[in-house]
Amino acid sequence: MTDVATTSIHDDVSEILLGEEEIRQRVGELGRELVERYADRDPVLVSVLKGSLVFLADLMRSMEMPVSIDLMEVSSYGAGTESSGQVRIIKDLSQPIEGRHVIVVEDIIDTGLTLNYLLKYLADKGPASVSIVCLLDKPARRLAEIPIDHVGFTIPDRFVIGYGLDYDERYRNLPYVGVLKPSVYGGAEPVE
Ligand code: PRP
Repeated sequence: MTDVATTSIHDDVSEILLGEEEIRQRVGELGRELVERYADRDPVLVSVLKGSLVFLADLMRSMEMPVSIDLMEVSSYGAGTESSGQVRIIKDLSQPIEGRHVIVVEDIIDTGLTLNYLLKYLADKGPASVSIVCLLDKPARRLAEIPIDHVGFTIPDRFVIGYGLDYDERYRNLPYVGVLKPSVYGGAEPVE
């Protein structure tokens, strides 16, 4: 039996793609970009749980201005590694966004199917504007075109975990963004 308490979550990482310091610096820059863009506009950060939790927490603290937050939870993936294309709202907004400037905070945009759905959903609620800030953009697998306003990092087509991102609900608490060993999800090693 595997002893969960003594198994390191780092053991399943084949490579650290983005280290803690690199992420901290970039999130600080994104925060400053948003402050400049949204000065005096009283924006609401709408975060898409659960993966964006860590990014939201750091991003909002890098914004030295009045902001409010709201949380949605949608699901597009099951326990596997591929997008199903099915988007389900698990938790809706708690406040109206009519007339508000909305900043959607996402951890990763992969196929774009989740945001494609969400942008239409939010637009129907009459916001003054909607922009997107995402930490990780993985353009290789894009199926829906998404107008991303602020991107942290553009990353290659690897299965990434950590800093909020999971595989089967694990690894979200890794402080960096790492690549999951293919042996963990039964995938093949990438051909370099
Ligand atoms: C992830 C991520 C995005 C979505 C991006 O969420 O947080 O919402 O997938 O993928 P797409 O561009 O291919 O649609 P996920 O459904 O894995 O849930 P989680 O945030 O709870 O991990």
